[in-house]
Amino acid sequence: MKNEDVIRILNEDFVRELEATLVYVRNSFIMKECDPSRVTEAIAVDEMRHMWWLADLITKRGGNPVMEHKELDFGGDDLQTMLRRQITLETEGIEKYKKQIEIVQDPEVTGVLKHIIEEEKRHRKEFNIRLQPISSEREFRE
Ligand SMILES: [Fe+2]
Ligand SMILES: [Fe+2]
Repeated sequence: MKNEDVIRILNEDFVRELEATLVYVRNSFIMKECDPSRVTEAIAVDEMRHMWWLADLITKRGGNPVMEHKELDFGGDDLQTMLRRQITLETEGIEKYKKQIEIVQDPEVTGVLKHIIEEEKRHRKEFNIRLQPISSEREFRE
């Protein structure tokens, strides 16, 4: 895989983390319930750390981090729909990073992606724990 392709993949991930950060920051203020709000706020900080890790990999390889995110989907203003949206974001990230690990040979990149996957799984679990009492169905088991 060419260096520019690695940078492109890392920038796709960087934008994904940027979007997660923005959605969680916003949702943490909209959630009226204290515990899920605090958890979402703390996880927003994790997502920003993921941005830093990816930006470090991007700049080390001669690229610049891309800040152009898509239109944001916050999941509405209801705790249940916000948590569901957040769980979807985590799952999409986990799946995307798993696929990337299979095609990127650079061990520094795959090491960071593996670390991020572990954190996203924990995030999904934290959101699921908050969704469970207010929902009859469970989105994803972990
Ligand atoms: Fe993340
Ligand atoms: Fe996450």
